[in-house]
Amino acid sequence: MTPKYKRVLLKLSGEALAGEKGMGLDFDTVLKFCAPIKECVDAGVQVGIVVGGGNFWRGRQSGKMDRTRADHMGMLATIINGLGLCDALEQLGCDVRVQSAVQANQICEPYIRNKAVRHLEKGRVVVFSGGTGNPFFSTDTAAALRAAEIDADILFKASMVDGVYDSDPKTNPNAKKFNTLSFSQALSQDLTVMDGTAATLCRDNKVPLLVFNLDDPQNIVRAIVGDESIGTLVK
Ligand code: GTP
Repeated sequence: MTPKYKRVLLKLSGEALAGEKGMGLDFDTVLKFCAPIKECVDAGVQVGIVVGGGNFWRGRQSGKMDRTRADHMGMLATIINGLGLCDALEQLGCDVRVQSAVQANQICEPYIRNKAVRHLEKGRVVVFSGGTGNPFFSTDTAAALRAAEIDADILFKASMVDGVYDSDPKTNPNAKKFNTLSFSQALSQDLTVMDGTAATLCRDNKVPLLVFNLDDPQNIVRAIVGDESIGTLVK
């Protein structure tokens, strides 16, 4: 494998980690996603990961709850997922450090940017958990923020959709997928790339974004080598 990128930030959807179960964490699924990550690390790529928490809890859809508290619960969910990822990656032979934006020092390291960069330089995967540490922000925003902080070459958003469409492909069979797109276009046309805060952060800090599907975990390797047939590149 000849990687196109040296340092990447991979945003993994929490939902994907549930696999067929639909909820919670399916460890075989987690191992399936971690295998291509290990391949990338072996090829010399520095990999940071931000993971969502939607397989356990979604702050935004918590209905009657106080939003801040609901978001706190979501942040805890991302720590659970981060620890699951860490375990799977370690089983595959990776060196991993989990950091958290909220204090959970008995369980994982605190988020320290310079320490994270040092880990990456030593070939360790760094899992950034706890979101941004603040309510009202999504894990997409955490991913954009960490990508900018660690000077990632690109942000990969790997989830259950295979790219960015001009309308919802679930409701419109004629929806057209973009191969490339600008952040300004995505923002002005309200295309659902990621939430506005995350997209604005990427645009303003010149972090390109590749949105692709995790249905085939090997897409992570395809993304790393710069295979243009997958996903949508936003820059
Ligand atoms: P180097 O500085 O490169 O040696 O990195 P290192 O991570 O190997 O060294 P360090 O001594 O910082 O950490 C050793 C182990 O303790 C690693 O598994 C870390 O993830 C873990 N660790 C470090 N700080 C904390 C913390 O605040 N809380 C928890 N739970 N673990 C920590």
